[in-house]
Amino acid sequence: MQNHNSHRSGALLDTPLGHDANLPLEPAGATQSVPEAGCASVLMCAPDAYGLKYEINPWMRLDNTPDLSMATKQWNDLYHLLRDRVGVHIELVTQSPDCPDMVFTANAGLVRCCYALMSNFRHPQRQAEETHFRAWFTAHGYKVQMPSVGCKFEGEGDALIAGDTVLAGYLKRSDICAHRWISDTLALPVLSLELADDRWYHLDTCLFPLSPDTVVYYPGAFDAYARTVIASHYNTIEVCTEEALRFACNAVVIDQHVVLPAGCPILARALEALGYKVYSVDLSEFLKAGGAAKCLTLLLR
Ligand code: ARG
Repeated sequence: MQNHNSHRSGALLDTPLGHDANLPLEPAGATQSVPEAGCASVLMCAPDAYGLKYEINPWMRLDNTPDLSMATKQWNDLYHLLRDRVGVHIELVTQSPDCPDMVFTANAGLVRCCYALMSNFRHPQRQAEETHFRAWFTAHGYKVQMPSVGCKFEGEGDALIAGDTVLAGYLKRSDICAHRWISDTLALPVLSLELADDRWYHLDTCLFPLSPDTVVYYPGAFDAYARTVIASHYNTIEVCTEEALRFACNAVVIDQHVVLPAGCPILARALEALGYKVYSVDLSEFLKAGGAAKCLTLLLR
């Protein structure tokens, strides 16, 4: 890669001057349902209108349609696992019939405190989701922030918070111009990471923060400089290609609990050896659209 300026790949954006890094945010209104600190809460969307109606990533094939009843069972398994065994509070948004990918709520936006940084989808096929997600965040008392016109951003799919740093992917779906906006709005440093392989088109398909100082990632999804950036800022656990192809990196981490897509025993063992409680969920019907556990949940911090 060439021509890295101060906020391109690997550079830390500084906290804006005069903006308290602890985000002293005022309440957002009477309908506020922003979760209490310490209580993990996620947004999910039941797959009532899930389907494969277009191809916008290499995993999607119109001749490989998901089985809706199996998808519903798998989604319910994930929902009950998170709610009943991990102890997560789950909010629901209703799927719009014209938005088959709306189940992937990680792409609704990026949430921190009472801010919801809304997505601006790259593909027209997903742009109708923006109105529905925006309505949900507004109704639930979040301060909705929009990216600038023309600046693509796909929410937590491309922006994951590790400690007090945002790890942000760009090139495939989100534009790097979104990184300055995220940093300015949340008063957090952003590490920009270039995605290099179309199969791992969102950051959450190839990396997840395990803790404030450790990330799990698939090196093959990143360009050389992004790999250097990751390794120089974090302790790392590398995922092998076989498990990366099963979306091992698309995991939900809640404290010491890690929910992985099925078929990732090598990563599961490595995490268990570190003391994590690991769960595995079969999400085959969502893999057909290029998503798994993380894509189906948006963290409401
Ligand atoms: N079919 C969807 C798309 O291509 C899948 C989105 C997966 N979401 C995610 N956060 N990686 O946009």
